[in-house]
Order: sequence, then C-alpha cells, then structure tokens
Amino acid sequence: MTASMIAEGNLEDTGDKRVMSSNIQSSSLLDKTRAALKRWFTGNREELESLRNANHSLTQDFDAIIEAWALALEMSKQVGEGHIRRVTDMTVEMARRMGLTEGHIVHVRRGALLHDIGEMNVPDAILLKVDSLLPAERAILRKHPAYAYEMLSSIESLRPALDIPYCHHENWDGKGYPRGLKGEEIPLSARIFAVVDTYDAVRIDRPYRKAWSTQQTWDYLAQQAGVLFDPAVVSVFIETYKKS
Ligand SMILES: [Fe+2]
Repeated sequence: MTASMIAEGNLEDTGDKRVMSSNIQSSSLLDKTRAALKRWFTGNREELESLRNANHSLTQDFDAIIEAWALALEMSKQVGEGHIRRVTDMTVEMARRMGLTEGHIVHVRRGALLHDIGEMNVPDAILLKVDSLLPAERAILRKHPAYAYEMLSSIESLRPALDIPYCHHENWDGKGYPRGLKGEEIPLSARIFAVVDTYDAVRIDRPYRKAWSTQQTWDYLAQQAGVLFDPAVVSVFIETYKKS
C-alpha cells in the first residue's frame, strides 16, 4: 500500500487486512479512553460538588459566628438594638452603589459587623460611662481600632475585612485616628461606613444626649462633607436614603 492510496482513501482496495484491524483496535482504544475519561470526570464532579457544598456550609457557619459575636458586643455596649444590623445593611447597599464588587462586599459586610470589636479590650467603666470621658479614658477608647487590628489580623480569612474595624474613625481631613489617614488614603469601605454609622448613631437616644432629629442629622452630614466625611460618599448617601 502506497502513501497515495492511503491519502485517496483506497484502503478497501488494497486488501490489506492489517490496516483495517489496526483501525478497529484504535477505535476500540478510543472508546475505552473516552469511557475512562467520562468515569474520571463524573467521579471528580461529584467530589468537587461535595467539596463546594462543604465550603459553602463552612462559610455560612463562619458568617453566623461573626454575626453572633457582633450582636453579643452590641448587647454588652447597650448601643441600642438593631444598630449593628442597620449599619451593616446600609454599608453593603452603599458599597454596591459605589461600585464595589460582590467579592469585595463579602468582606465589607464582615467588617461592618465587626466595626467596634476592638472595644472588647476597653473596660466597661469607660464604654458604659454616662458622664463625659476624661482625657485618659478617651485615649483608651480611641485605641479600639488598633485593638481590632491586633485581635483579627492573624486570622487570614478576616484580614480583607479589617478596613472598617481599623479605619472607621479616620477623617477625610486627616485629623482622625489611629493613623491620621487623609482623603482617599482611607479605604472606601471605611469612608462609607463612617457616614452610615454616624447617621444611625446620632439618631439613637443615649444616656448623655437625646437622639437628633432627622433634619439635624442631614444638616450635620452635609456640613461635614469634606471635613469628617468623603463628599462623594455623603452625596450618594443623601441620594440613596434622604427620600426614603
Ligand atoms: Fe468605633
């Protein structure tokens, strides 16, 4: 059999049974390979599916633990029921509106829930004090963002969520704490959270002051745009919530 005969598809005419037999063997080998690959893919698909389910369930448990931890802190601080859930929901909504991706928002949500977790290291005598704080007490309270960083930065899954607990008291004008970050040096999630947290916190009755009226709150946010708060964030916040 010549190369030209093969090229022209004249195998039948050659009478060369060995070629046909070789083709049958190849075809059977191909079928076996396909069957083995199919078994391999099916087995791995099931294994992957089971790993995916286990991962999903672990993530849900992880988030439930974070939420329980945050709510326990809220109860012990007596900041008013629902504050943490409200500020978390609003921060997530604002983060979406300001273009953060869903992958980033998972961490924004965790960060908002844990924003004041560093206060676990601040004595109750300071946290629950009704009268004005003394300068030394205020200095201890102002350490809570750094405490949050110290407590959580060794947990790898929580590291991307630390922007809010660590930076939510930084001010747009650079006069905040703990690091005096300025403008866009402050992570966007923390700039968003600062506006949301202030909006919710001032509208709650506290032992040392009455809740602010809605108008007073909007006026304050507008005055502090460009001082305490990112003006772009205040603008989106007003657009999103002032009408509702
Ligand atoms: Fe705080």
